[in-house]
Amino acid sequence: MKIAVLPGDGIGTEIVAEAVKVLGALDLRFEMEQALVGGAAYEAHGHPLPESTLKLAQQADAVLFGAVGDWKYDKLERALRPEQAILGLRKHLGLFANFRPAICYEQLTHASSLKPELVAGLDILIIRELTGDIYFGQPRGRRASPDGAFQGAPEAFDTMRYSRPEIERIAHVAFQAARKRGKKVTSVDKANVLETFQFWKDVVTEVHAQYPDVELEHMYVDNAAMQLVKAPKKFDVIVTGNMFGDILSDEAAMLTGSIGMLPSASLNERKQGLYEPSHGSAPDIAGKGVANPLATILSAAMMLRFSLDQPEAADRIERAVQDVLAQGLRTADIFSEGTTRVGTKEMGDAVVARLKAQG
Ligand code: IPM
Ligand code: MG
Repeated sequence: MKIAVLPGDGIGTEIVAEAVKVLGALDLRFEMEQALVGGAAYEAHGHPLPESTLKLAQQADAVLFGAVGDWKYDKLERALRPEQAILGLRKHLGLFANFRPAICYEQLTHASSLKPELVAGLDILIIRELTGDIYFGQPRGRRASPDGAFQGAPEAFDTMRYSRPEIERIAHVAFQAARKRGKKVTSVDKANVLETFQFWKDVVTEVHAQYPDVELEHMYVDNAAMQLVKAPKKFDVIVTGNMFGDILSDEAAMLTGSIGMLPSASLNERKQGLYEPSHGSAPDIAGKGVANPLATILSAAMMLRFSLDQPEAADRIERAVQDVLAQGLRTADIFSEGTTRVGTKEMGDAVVARLKAQG
Protein backbone atom coordinates (compact mmCIF):
# COMPACT_ATOMS: atom_id res chain seq x y z
CA MET A 1 0.00 0.00 0.00
CA LYS A 2 1.72 3.08 -1.21
CA ILE A 3 0.64 6.48 0.11
CA ALA A 4 1.84 9.78 -1.26
CA VAL A 5 1.87 12.28 1.60
CA LEU A 6 1.43 15.88 0.46
CA PRO A 7 1.09 18.21 3.47
CA GLY A 8 1.14 21.47 1.50
CA ASP A 9 0.86 24.87 3.16
CA GLY A 10 -0.28 26.55 6.37
CA ILE A 11 -1.71 24.13 8.91
CA GLY A 12 -1.36 21.35 6.29
CA THR A 13 1.99 20.19 7.65
CA GLU A 14 0.77 20.05 11.27
CA ILE A 15 -2.47 18.17 10.64
CA VAL A 16 -0.98 15.69 8.15
CA ALA A 17 1.75 14.84 10.66
CA GLU A 18 -0.97 13.76 13.11
CA ALA A 19 -2.76 11.64 10.49
CA VAL A 20 0.55 9.96 9.60
CA LYS A 21 1.09 9.27 13.29
CA VAL A 22 -2.35 7.65 13.54
CA LEU A 23 -1.71 5.49 10.45
CA GLY A 24 1.59 4.43 11.98
CA ALA A 25 -0.22 3.24 15.11
CA LEU A 26 -2.23 0.68 13.12
CA ASP A 27 -0.86 -2.80 12.71
CA LEU A 28 -0.54 -2.30 8.96
CA ARG A 29 2.43 -1.75 6.71
CA PHE A 30 2.43 1.31 4.48
CA GLU A 31 4.99 2.72 2.17
CA MET A 32 4.70 6.47 2.70
CA GLU A 33 6.57 9.05 0.70
CA GLN A 34 6.30 12.76 1.27
CA ALA A 35 6.55 15.59 -1.29
CA LEU A 36 6.02 19.33 -1.51
CA VAL A 37 2.87 20.78 -3.02
CA GLY A 38 1.22 24.21 -3.28
CA GLY A 39 3.02 27.32 -2.08
CA ALA A 40 5.70 25.19 -0.40
CA ALA A 41 6.50 23.57 -3.76
CA TYR A 42 6.44 26.92 -5.51
CA GLU A 43 9.02 28.27 -3.06
CA ALA A 44 11.31 25.27 -3.54
CA HIS A 45 10.79 24.38 -7.20
CA GLY A 46 9.04 27.37 -8.80
CA HIS A 47 5.83 25.39 -9.43
CA PRO A 48 2.88 24.45 -7.14
CA LEU A 49 2.68 20.93 -8.65
CA PRO A 50 6.20 19.88 -9.64
CA GLU A 51 6.56 16.95 -12.05
CA SER A 52 8.10 14.81 -9.27
CA THR A 53 5.14 15.40 -6.93
CA LEU A 54 2.63 14.58 -9.67
CA LYS A 55 4.52 11.41 -10.53
CA LEU A 56 4.59 10.30 -6.89
CA ALA A 57 0.83 10.86 -6.66
CA GLN A 58 0.16 8.97 -9.88
CA GLN A 59 2.18 5.97 -8.74
CA ALA A 60 0.60 5.77 -5.28
CA ASP A 61 -2.58 3.90 -4.34
CA ALA A 62 -3.72 6.98 -2.45
CA VAL A 63 -2.74 10.55 -1.72
CA LEU A 64 -3.01 12.01 1.76
CA PHE A 65 -3.28 15.74 1.23
CA GLY A 66 -3.20 18.59 3.74
CA ALA A 67 -4.14 21.98 2.33
CA VAL A 68 -2.71 24.56 -0.03
CA GLY A 69 -2.82 28.33 -0.31
CA ASP A 70 -1.77 31.53 1.34
CA TRP A 71 -2.78 35.10 0.69
CA LYS A 72 0.81 35.96 -0.12
CA TYR A 73 0.50 34.07 -3.41
CA ASP A 74 -2.65 35.89 -4.57
CA LYS A 75 -0.67 38.14 -6.88
CA LEU A 76 1.07 35.32 -8.75
CA GLU A 77 -0.15 34.48 -12.24
CA ARG A 78 -2.93 31.89 -12.04
CA ALA A 79 -0.84 28.93 -13.28
CA LEU A 80 1.58 29.35 -10.38
CA ARG A 81 -0.91 29.81 -7.56
CA PRO A 82 -1.10 27.07 -4.90
CA GLU A 83 -4.73 26.18 -5.82
CA GLN A 84 -3.48 24.96 -9.19
CA ALA A 85 -1.82 22.06 -7.39
CA ILE A 86 -5.10 20.59 -6.21
CA LEU A 87 -6.85 21.33 -9.51
CA GLY A 88 -3.94 19.73 -11.39
CA LEU A 89 -3.99 16.62 -9.20
CA ARG A 90 -7.74 16.24 -9.71
CA LYS A 91 -7.38 16.58 -13.46
CA HIS A 92 -4.26 14.46 -13.97
CA LEU A 93 -5.47 11.65 -11.73
CA GLY A 94 -9.02 11.83 -13.11
CA LEU A 95 -10.51 12.26 -9.61
CA PHE A 96 -14.03 12.95 -10.79
CA ALA A 97 -15.99 11.81 -7.73
CA ASN A 98 -15.70 13.95 -4.65
CA PHE A 99 -17.35 12.74 -1.44
CA ARG A 100 -18.00 15.36 1.19
CA PRO A 101 -19.90 14.04 4.16
CA ALA A 102 -21.47 16.57 6.52
CA ILE A 103 -22.03 14.81 9.79
CA CYS A 104 -23.09 16.51 12.98
CA TYR A 105 -21.36 14.76 15.85
CA GLU A 106 -23.55 14.30 18.87
CA GLN A 107 -21.14 16.08 21.18
CA LEU A 108 -20.81 19.05 18.83
CA THR A 109 -24.47 19.73 18.12
CA HIS A 110 -24.24 23.05 19.95
CA ALA A 111 -21.31 24.25 17.83
CA SER A 112 -23.66 24.72 14.86
CA SER A 113 -25.01 28.16 14.08
CA LEU A 114 -28.38 26.51 13.48
CA LYS A 115 -30.76 25.46 16.25
CA PRO A 116 -29.66 22.12 17.71
CA GLU A 117 -32.92 20.39 16.75
CA LEU A 118 -32.32 21.24 13.09
CA VAL A 119 -28.89 19.59 12.99
CA ALA A 120 -28.89 16.90 15.69
CA GLY A 121 -28.09 13.62 13.97
CA LEU A 122 -27.44 15.30 10.62
CA ASP A 123 -25.74 12.94 8.18
CA ILE A 124 -25.69 14.05 4.57
CA LEU A 125 -23.30 13.20 1.79
CA ILE A 126 -22.50 15.67 -0.94
CA ILE A 127 -21.17 14.05 -4.08
CA ARG A 128 -19.55 16.73 -6.18
CA GLU A 129 -18.40 16.17 -9.76
CA LEU A 130 -14.80 17.32 -9.65
CA THR A 131 -13.15 17.35 -13.07
CA GLY A 132 -15.64 19.10 -15.33
CA ASP A 133 -17.98 22.09 -15.42
CA ILE A 134 -16.92 25.73 -15.55
CA TYR A 135 -13.79 24.88 -13.52
CA PHE A 136 -12.13 23.22 -16.50
CA GLY A 137 -14.27 24.20 -19.50
CA GLN A 138 -12.50 25.71 -22.48
CA PRO A 139 -12.35 28.29 -23.90
CA ARG A 140 -11.80 30.77 -21.13
CA GLY A 141 -9.91 33.98 -20.89
CA ARG A 142 -10.07 37.67 -21.62
CA ARG A 143 -10.91 39.40 -24.87
CA ALA A 144 -12.69 42.38 -26.37
CA SER A 145 -16.44 41.79 -26.07
CA PRO A 146 -17.49 40.44 -29.49
CA ASP A 147 -21.11 41.65 -29.43
CA GLY A 148 -23.92 43.14 -27.36
CA ALA A 149 -24.29 46.51 -25.73
CA PHE A 150 -20.68 46.54 -24.61
CA GLN A 151 -19.10 45.37 -27.85
CA GLY A 152 -15.39 46.12 -27.88
CA ALA A 153 -15.10 46.52 -24.12
CA PRO A 154 -12.67 44.22 -22.29
CA GLU A 155 -14.41 41.16 -20.87
CA ALA A 156 -13.60 37.86 -19.21
CA PHE A 157 -15.36 34.54 -19.84
CA ASP A 158 -15.42 30.89 -18.78
CA THR A 159 -17.20 27.92 -20.29
CA MET A 160 -19.70 25.76 -18.42
CA ARG A 161 -19.97 22.32 -19.99
CA TYR A 162 -20.72 18.69 -19.20
CA SER A 163 -20.59 15.69 -21.50
CA ARG A 164 -23.01 12.78 -21.18
CA PRO A 165 -20.39 10.26 -19.90
CA GLU A 166 -19.26 12.70 -17.23
CA ILE A 167 -22.80 13.08 -15.92
CA GLU A 168 -23.57 9.38 -16.21
CA ARG A 169 -20.60 8.23 -14.17
CA ILE A 170 -21.16 10.67 -11.31
CA ALA A 171 -24.88 9.78 -11.29
CA HIS A 172 -23.98 6.10 -10.91
CA VAL A 173 -21.66 6.96 -8.03
CA ALA A 174 -24.47 8.88 -6.31
CA PHE A 175 -27.15 6.20 -6.75
CA GLN A 176 -24.78 3.49 -5.57
CA ALA A 177 -23.80 5.53 -2.53
CA ALA A 178 -27.46 6.21 -1.73
CA ARG A 179 -28.20 2.48 -1.84
CA LYS A 180 -25.88 2.03 1.12
CA ARG A 181 -27.56 4.86 3.06
CA GLY A 182 -30.97 6.49 3.06
CA LYS A 183 -31.79 5.55 -0.56
CA LYS A 184 -32.51 9.10 -1.63
CA VAL A 185 -30.63 11.29 -4.11
CA THR A 186 -31.21 15.00 -4.60
CA SER A 187 -29.73 16.14 -7.90
CA VAL A 188 -28.99 19.84 -7.74
CA ASP A 189 -29.10 21.84 -10.98
CA LYS A 190 -30.04 25.15 -12.53
CA ALA A 191 -32.11 23.65 -15.34
CA ASN A 192 -34.47 26.62 -15.33
CA VAL A 193 -31.72 28.83 -16.74
CA LEU A 194 -28.71 26.83 -17.94
CA GLU A 195 -28.49 24.49 -20.93
CA THR A 196 -25.68 22.55 -19.22
CA PHE A 197 -27.88 21.77 -16.25
CA GLN A 198 -31.01 20.92 -18.23
CA PHE A 199 -28.80 18.27 -19.85
CA TRP A 200 -27.50 17.27 -16.42
CA LYS A 201 -31.06 16.79 -15.17
CA ASP A 202 -32.07 14.76 -18.25
CA VAL A 203 -29.09 12.42 -17.99
CA VAL A 204 -29.44 11.91 -14.22
CA THR A 205 -33.12 11.05 -14.79
CA GLU A 206 -32.14 8.47 -17.42
CA VAL A 207 -29.52 6.83 -15.19
CA HIS A 208 -32.07 6.71 -12.38
CA ALA A 209 -34.09 4.15 -14.36
CA GLN A 210 -31.41 1.61 -13.36
CA TYR A 211 -31.97 2.35 -9.66
CA PRO A 212 -35.71 1.94 -8.99
CA ASP A 213 -34.97 1.28 -5.30
CA VAL A 214 -33.51 4.77 -4.87
CA GLU A 215 -35.69 7.88 -4.74
CA LEU A 216 -34.59 10.76 -6.99
CA GLU A 217 -35.56 14.38 -6.51
CA HIS A 218 -34.39 17.37 -8.54
CA MET A 219 -33.76 20.73 -6.93
CA TYR A 220 -32.59 24.08 -8.25
CA VAL A 221 -29.36 25.20 -6.64
CA ASP A 222 -30.80 28.39 -5.12
CA ASN A 223 -33.54 26.38 -3.44
CA ALA A 224 -31.00 23.77 -2.32
CA ALA A 225 -28.96 26.51 -0.64
CA MET A 226 -32.10 27.58 1.19
CA GLN A 227 -33.27 24.07 2.13
CA LEU A 228 -29.84 23.29 3.54
CA VAL A 229 -30.36 25.89 6.26
CA LYS A 230 -34.10 25.35 6.60
CA ALA A 231 -34.38 21.57 6.89
CA PRO A 232 -31.00 19.98 6.25
CA LYS A 233 -32.02 16.59 7.61
CA LYS A 234 -34.37 16.11 4.63
CA PHE A 235 -31.32 15.43 2.46
CA ASP A 236 -29.53 12.12 2.17
CA VAL A 237 -27.20 12.17 -0.85
CA ILE A 238 -26.82 15.36 -2.86
CA VAL A 239 -25.22 15.05 -6.29
CA THR A 240 -24.22 18.12 -8.25
CA GLY A 241 -21.70 19.72 -10.59
CA ASN A 242 -18.31 21.07 -9.74
CA MET A 243 -19.14 24.70 -9.00
CA PHE A 244 -22.46 24.18 -7.22
CA GLY A 245 -20.80 21.41 -5.23
CA ASP A 246 -17.99 23.71 -4.19
CA ILE A 247 -20.45 26.21 -2.78
CA LEU A 248 -23.00 23.85 -1.24
CA SER A 249 -20.36 21.69 0.42
CA ASP A 250 -19.00 24.68 2.34
CA GLU A 251 -22.52 25.57 3.38
CA ALA A 252 -23.25 21.99 4.47
CA ALA A 253 -19.96 21.78 6.36
CA MET A 254 -20.84 24.85 8.37
CA LEU A 255 -24.17 23.34 9.43
CA THR A 256 -22.22 20.90 11.52
CA GLY A 257 -20.46 23.78 13.25
CA SER A 258 -17.12 22.15 12.85
CA ILE A 259 -15.47 22.25 9.45
CA GLY A 260 -12.38 21.05 11.33
CA MET A 261 -14.09 17.66 11.66
CA LEU A 262 -15.01 16.95 8.05
CA PRO A 263 -12.98 14.68 5.80
CA SER A 264 -13.28 14.27 2.05
CA ALA A 265 -12.37 11.78 -0.63
CA SER A 266 -11.85 12.28 -4.35
CA LEU A 267 -11.83 9.08 -6.40
CA ASN A 268 -11.14 8.06 -9.95
CA GLU A 269 -12.45 5.06 -11.85
CA ARG A 270 -9.66 2.86 -10.50
CA LYS A 271 -10.48 3.79 -6.88
CA GLN A 272 -7.23 5.62 -6.59
CA GLY A 273 -8.03 8.53 -4.34
CA LEU A 274 -6.95 11.81 -2.86
CA TYR A 275 -7.96 12.36 0.75
CA GLU A 276 -8.03 15.76 2.36
CA PRO A 277 -9.81 17.68 5.09
CA SER A 278 -12.68 19.82 3.84
CA HIS A 279 -11.12 22.93 5.34
CA GLY A 280 -8.31 25.04 3.95
CA SER A 281 -4.77 25.96 4.94
CA ALA A 282 -5.78 28.55 7.59
CA PRO A 283 -2.56 30.60 7.37
CA ASP A 284 -3.75 32.76 10.30
CA ILE A 285 -3.27 29.89 12.76
CA ALA A 286 -0.45 28.03 10.99
CA GLY A 287 2.52 27.01 13.13
CA LYS A 288 0.68 27.64 16.40
CA GLY A 289 -0.14 24.02 17.12
CA VAL A 290 -3.84 24.75 17.60
CA ALA A 291 -5.38 23.40 14.37
CA ASN A 292 -7.84 20.52 14.57
CA PRO A 293 -6.26 17.40 13.04
CA LEU A 294 -9.44 15.31 13.19
CA ALA A 295 -10.68 16.07 9.65
CA THR A 296 -7.35 14.83 8.29
CA ILE A 297 -7.33 11.82 10.59
CA LEU A 298 -10.87 10.99 9.42
CA SER A 299 -9.70 11.49 5.80
CA ALA A 300 -7.06 8.85 6.47
CA ALA A 301 -9.89 6.57 7.61
CA MET A 302 -11.75 7.21 4.35
CA MET A 303 -8.52 6.39 2.51
CA LEU A 304 -8.30 3.03 4.27
CA ARG A 305 -11.91 2.26 3.38
CA PHE A 306 -12.09 3.46 -0.24
CA SER A 307 -8.60 3.02 -1.71
CA LEU A 308 -6.71 0.59 0.52
CA ASP A 309 -9.40 -1.99 1.21
CA GLN A 310 -8.95 -1.86 5.00
CA PRO A 311 -12.47 -1.19 6.30
CA GLU A 312 -11.75 -2.53 9.79
CA ALA A 313 -8.84 -0.14 10.24
CA ALA A 314 -11.08 2.68 9.03
CA ASP A 315 -13.72 1.74 11.61
CA ARG A 316 -11.09 1.66 14.32
CA ILE A 317 -9.93 5.20 13.56
CA GLU A 318 -13.49 6.51 13.44
CA ARG A 319 -14.24 4.86 16.77
CA ALA A 320 -11.08 6.35 18.29
CA VAL A 321 -12.18 9.81 17.14
CA GLN A 322 -15.62 9.32 18.70
CA ASP A 323 -13.86 8.26 21.91
CA VAL A 324 -11.69 11.35 22.19
CA LEU A 325 -14.76 13.52 21.67
CA ALA A 326 -16.58 11.54 24.35
CA GLN A 327 -13.57 12.14 26.64
CA GLY A 328 -14.27 15.84 26.20
CA LEU A 329 -11.09 16.71 24.31
CA ARG A 330 -11.52 19.70 21.97
CA THR A 331 -9.26 21.81 19.81
CA ALA A 332 -9.97 25.55 19.82
CA ASP A 333 -12.38 25.42 16.85
CA ILE A 334 -14.78 23.07 18.63
CA PHE A 335 -14.10 24.10 22.22
CA SER A 336 -16.99 24.91 24.52
CA GLU A 337 -17.31 25.40 28.25
CA GLY A 338 -16.94 22.25 30.27
CA THR A 339 -14.66 20.54 27.75
CA THR A 340 -10.87 20.23 27.73
CA ARG A 341 -8.94 22.35 25.26
CA VAL A 342 -6.04 20.58 23.57
CA GLY A 343 -3.59 21.38 20.78
CA THR A 344 -2.99 19.64 17.47
CA LYS A 345 -0.39 17.18 18.77
CA GLU A 346 -2.27 16.33 21.95
CA MET A 347 -5.35 15.56 19.88
CA GLY A 348 -3.35 13.26 17.59
CA ASP A 349 -1.77 11.58 20.62
CA ALA A 350 -5.19 11.07 22.19
CA VAL A 351 -6.47 9.32 19.05
CA VAL A 352 -3.40 7.08 19.03
CA ALA A 353 -3.96 6.27 22.72
CA ARG A 354 -7.58 5.28 22.03
CA LEU A 355 -6.45 3.10 19.12
CA LYS A 356 -3.99 1.30 21.35
CA ALA A 357 -6.65 0.90 24.04
CA GLN A 358 -8.87 -0.93 21.54
CA GLY A 359 -6.24 -3.70 21.67
C1 IPM B 1 -12.37 23.05 -2.55
C2 IPM B 1 -11.60 24.32 -2.73
C3 IPM B 1 -10.98 24.31 -4.13
C4 IPM B 1 -12.11 24.29 -5.13
C5 IPM B 1 -10.00 25.46 -4.40
C6 IPM B 1 -8.89 25.50 -3.37
C7 IPM B 1 -9.43 25.38 -5.78
O1 IPM B 1 -12.42 25.42 -2.54
O2 IPM B 1 -11.76 21.97 -2.63
O3 IPM B 1 -13.58 23.12 -2.32
O4 IPM B 1 -12.66 25.33 -5.50
O5 IPM B 1 -12.47 23.20 -5.58
MG1 MG C 1 -14.39 24.94 -1.84
